[in-house]
Amino acid sequence: MDMGSNWAAVDEYLVGKLIGDADPLADVLAANAAAGLPAIDVSPVQGKLLHLLANAARARRILEVGTLGGYSTIWLAQALPADGKLVTLEIERRHAEVARGNFNRTGVADKIELRLGPALDTLNALAAEESAPFDFVFIDADKQHNADYVQAAIGLARPGALIVVDNVVREGRVLDEQSQDSAVQGTRRLFDMLANEPRLDATGIQTVGVKKWDGFIVAIVR
Ligand SMILES: C[S@@+](CC[C@H](N)C(=O)[O-])C[C@H]1O[C@@H](n2cnc3c(N)ncnc32)[C@H](O)[C@@H]1O
Repeated sequence: MDMGSNWAAVDEYLVGKLIGDADPLADVLAANAAAGLPAIDVSPVQGKLLHLLANAARARRILEVGTLGGYSTIWLAQALPADGKLVTLEIERRHAEVARGNFNRTGVADKIELRLGPALDTLNALAAEESAPFDFVFIDADKQHNADYVQAAIGLARPGALIVVDNVVREGRVLDEQSQDSAVQGTRRLFDMLANEPRLDATGIQTVGVKKWDGFIVAIVR
């Protein structure tokens, strides 16, 4: 077995032991695949981690940047109390349509507001609305803008809120200063920003699994 298939097999074992016989949101992934969406959602164990973190933070208001078909959105929405709310931001109309279908099918649609458009614009609009602060933010859209998304998230979140940013290791390519990949350069800008951001207390965790070698940042707003 190569390392990649080992990681995937262990993920499957973890799902079987800790989540259920199979991914409870497998239908969502099937709907995404049928609609031709790319399979770039978080993995089942990562989705469950987001769910547990949102629960631990007693999140009532969640912000997500990057919806795709709503797989991570639904894991998070299922951690909300009955009167909780999740705002998720997506630029692609087609992704948003598929996500809305998934929200309806999984019974979480009433908790979710999907805003279509470039996330930077929507984040500015949210700031102008001065709505209640968010308790939990999950950032998983275009990696070029990650530093801007985190800055906006700090302004929209309450002190003590959790901010999670996905895909920050990129199979180790984050170390490549000369990378021509804008996602790598965006990730490096994010780390440079975090290194000098006194309003956040952060760590980074490397992960392996069905999504190969990657990692995420977890930060608390001071
Ligand atoms: C990695 S996928 C999100 C996966 C999703 N969080 C999940 O785990 O199920 C990234 C999504 O961000 C969207 N996206 C990319 N650039 C964006 C932007 N500037 N504003 C809003 N959404 C964007 C993409 O269309 C895509 O659907």
